[in-house]
Amino acid sequence: MNSGSVDLKKKLKKKYIYIITVCTVMIIAVLAIRSLSIKKVTVVVDGKEIIHKTNKDTIGEVLNELGITYGENDKLSKSSSESINDKDNIVITRVTFKDEVVEENINFEEKKVKDYKIPLGENRILSEGEVGKKNSTYKVTYENGVEVKRELINEEVIDEASDKVIAEGIFEPTSLTVCVNKSRNLSSDYEPGNLVVPNVRSIVSSSRIMMVPEAATALEDLFLGAENDGVYLYAVSGYRSYDYQASIYNPYSGYSAPPGASEHQLGLAMDVNSSYYGSSLTTEFGYSTEGQWVKANAHKYGFIVRYLDGKEDITGYYYEPWHIRYVGVDLATELYNSGLTLEEYYGEY
Ligand code: DAL
Ligand code: ZN
Repeated sequence: MNSGSVDLKKKLKKKYIYIITVCTVMIIAVLAIRSLSIKKVTVVVDGKEIIHKTNKDTIGEVLNELGITYGENDKLSKSSSESINDKDNIVITRVTFKDEVVEENINFEEKKVKDYKIPLGENRILSEGEVGKKNSTYKVTYENGVEVKRELINEEVIDEASDKVIAEGIFEPTSLTVCVNKSRNLSSDYEPGNLVVPNVRSIVSSSRIMMVPEAATALEDLFLGAENDGVYLYAVSGYRSYDYQASIYNPYSGYSAPPGASEHQLGLAMDVNSSYYGSSLTTEFGYSTEGQWVKANAHKYGFIVRYLDGKEDITGYYYEPWHIRYVGVDLATELYNSGLTLEEYYGEY
């Protein structure tokens, strides 16, 4: 071998060594760069925790790489377009919905009605309440199978509930607004404790025109008011005891209350008349100046014409333009304006 070929061999060997060294360095560099871009992420989904190494750039790409799909309702702890960082923890919450139909009770309501036939303070159950039934449809939201929300979206009534109805007794003889009639009587021993004689014109003895004090004062005002208008009224009959009512009761007359059914026993009623008719109580009085005045003005003093024309079926008596009953200005005005009888006002007759 000559010295020239030995030199060439040495040169070639040097070149190879150089190339191999360069390639090795490049491979090491590429591997180093690659290992730098690899990120370790944890994906929590469907009850599993997946630890994964990736060089992908976004959350969406990583999930795709892992073959993990997710619906539009599923919740991602980070948006799929967000870029991935080393040690990221991605939590996917599965969100599902279900419509659920549940049979439920419809609670009944409690209603109270006033009943003037029942003594004050006493209650009576008129009808027991009954629960109803309904099908309620709920949209239920689950997260990873656990209910997190329940929205009522529909209700279908199967059986209506029926109210519990309680009658509240309001019958109280000493109340100025009490309603006494043929179906709600006073006891034979009821007598107002503090009767007084109103200071008004009368065609009977003072013992026949007694009233309870509030009614007596109001009657005095009424008589004065009438007088100011040039109308002169006469008191004919006020308080009547049970026994006295029994003695004058005429079962064949449409004007006469049985004992216990007369408001005169309350000391709140007065029969009034004009001098023309005197002691004769007649419907004609209603057409007289005095009767017309009473009809138009009694309420201003707290009185009502108790037995109205056309309301015979409700009150149980013919029209009595002379019989006025004290109930207080508020109620008298309300009844006057509405045209209702006391029975209608209480909703029971
Ligand atoms: N005239 C009425 C109705 C009574 O007797 O009380
Ligand atoms: Zn009367």
